[in-house]
Amino acid sequence: METNKKITSNSGTPIGNYQDSQTVGPRGPILLQDFFLHEKLALFNRERIPERIVHAKGSGAFGTFTVTHDITKYTRAKIFSQIGKKTKMFVRFSTVGGEKGSADSERDPRGFALKFYTEDGIWDLVGNNTPVFFIKDPRKFPDFIHTQKRDPYTNCKNPTMFWDFFSLNPESLHQVMILMSDRGTPFGFRHMHGYGSHTYTLVNAKNERFYVKFHYKTQQGVKNLTLEESIDYKAKNPDYAQMDLLKSIEQKNFPKYTFYIQVMTPEMLKDYKWNPFDVTKVWSQKEYPLIEVGEIELNKNPQNYFQDVEQAALAPSNIVDGIGFSPDKMLQGRIFAYADAQRYRIGTNYQSLPVNACPFAVNNYSRDGAMRHDGNGGSSPNYFPNSFDGNYEPKEYKGQPYELESSIVDYYDRNENDDDHYSQPGDLFDRIMDDNAKANTIKNIVAHMSGIDGEKKDEIIHRQLCHFFRASSALGMGVAKGLNIDISKLNLK
Ligand code: HEM
Repeated sequence: METNKKITSNSGTPIGNYQDSQTVGPRGPILLQDFFLHEKLALFNRERIPERIVHAKGSGAFGTFTVTHDITKYTRAKIFSQIGKKTKMFVRFSTVGGEKGSADSERDPRGFALKFYTEDGIWDLVGNNTPVFFIKDPRKFPDFIHTQKRDPYTNCKNPTMFWDFFSLNPESLHQVMILMSDRGTPFGFRHMHGYGSHTYTLVNAKNERFYVKFHYKTQQGVKNLTLEESIDYKAKNPDYAQMDLLKSIEQKNFPKYTFYIQVMTPEMLKDYKWNPFDVTKVWSQKEYPLIEVGEIELNKNPQNYFQDVEQAALAPSNIVDGIGFSPDKMLQGRIFAYADAQRYRIGTNYQSLPVNACPFAVNNYSRDGAMRHDGNGGSSPNYFPNSFDGNYEPKEYKGQPYELESSIVDYYDRNENDDDHYSQPGDLFDRIMDDNAKANTIKNIVAHMSGIDGEKKDEIIHRQLCHFFRASSALGMGVAKGLNIDISKLNLK
């Protein structure tokens, strides 16, 4: 840090008296000509930008992605072009439902969003610490989020609307099970896995298409908080995850994650039991094993939180050649939602802020807009095609056509397995969780559902209990017992 410098106004005028307003005599009123007072008060009034509509509380770090294994048979994306290749990146971790000042230990999924500064443009993989999500249609997203935020009347979090929504949308059960296990309260950001969650595509140099899921696994080991610990952290150190990440990077104890893909060919896709584009389902790792790709290392703290983390704009629409979307409806909705949110939250030219900008050439004909400061194309033509600049559309970047199953436009596309909301959550509870995880999950559910209140209390509890029973009778029994429910009253069909 440079020291011993003159204080100036924002227009560079040295300010001889920074702390006292200009008055008529030592005790008189302040003069209208005190422009520096106006500047200070006016800029202060404008310090806040809208917080993110979701994932408002977060922490960021810069890092490096290194390729350790060759996957060029699946993708021509330049980031994966050779073993040993390093790409600069940025990560933002977050909770989902709380405000910017909320506690890091809230029971919530954690955002685990990656930004890669590749030579073919920015690639963002905006994932969570869970492989699945609560819903599978973007039309449900605003309703879902309303139930996770504050009640419009009490202005408090409301377990009744939380469970009302989940019990009426059983596709949420898989993610609810993860949320209600101790994975819903991870110990900070260094000790959890991350997932791209959606099905994406990879395209290789021969234009062959593969379907993939992305996984990034912590090398620090998984560590979660129990219910009691999470409440304790909330009271005593609500920002502990931010400090844990910051301090560990300061101490050169750089967090690392191993990056994997799971792959399906288009043929395998057709045979999969469930809709492979349904983000409420995982792909079996037995059938589609993890393939190691590389390593993420977080090695640099942002020097200014607001500039680099609050103004960071991560968006699933930031995609690069060799990596593509899939028909996952949620992903399709997200392709719109993020850039739209960021134009509102940060401003039209948010992509030229240092944390968001592609360090390699950006070249097009968009011009002007508030706060343009990147040269704005200088005196070069602002339209295309033109007879002057010789710019061209690089045809090799046209992607490849999608093969779709149907040309019928409709609202529903279901087969019987699309409504199977129970097999995978049941597997998770019965076969994957150990006894301790099972007991804690039941305890966490009971603690949360005990907050359900009001005239619909019994209806909501019974409906959700039926979902738990449909997934696993041991789970249903455990929750029913914890809530003192007489299960003979349940309609378990
Ligand atoms: C943030 C919308 C589903 C992970 C956001 C933001 C919006 C949004 C508007 C704030 C963006 C900003 O202001 O910068 C949606 C919609 C969804 C959806 C409409 C469903 C259709 C998901 C899913 C995941 C996810 C399925 C994970 C798999 C995240 C993360 C952030 C975020 C990690 C924070 C990014 C950051 O750190 O800046 N979402 N979201 N969202 N969302 Fe979603």
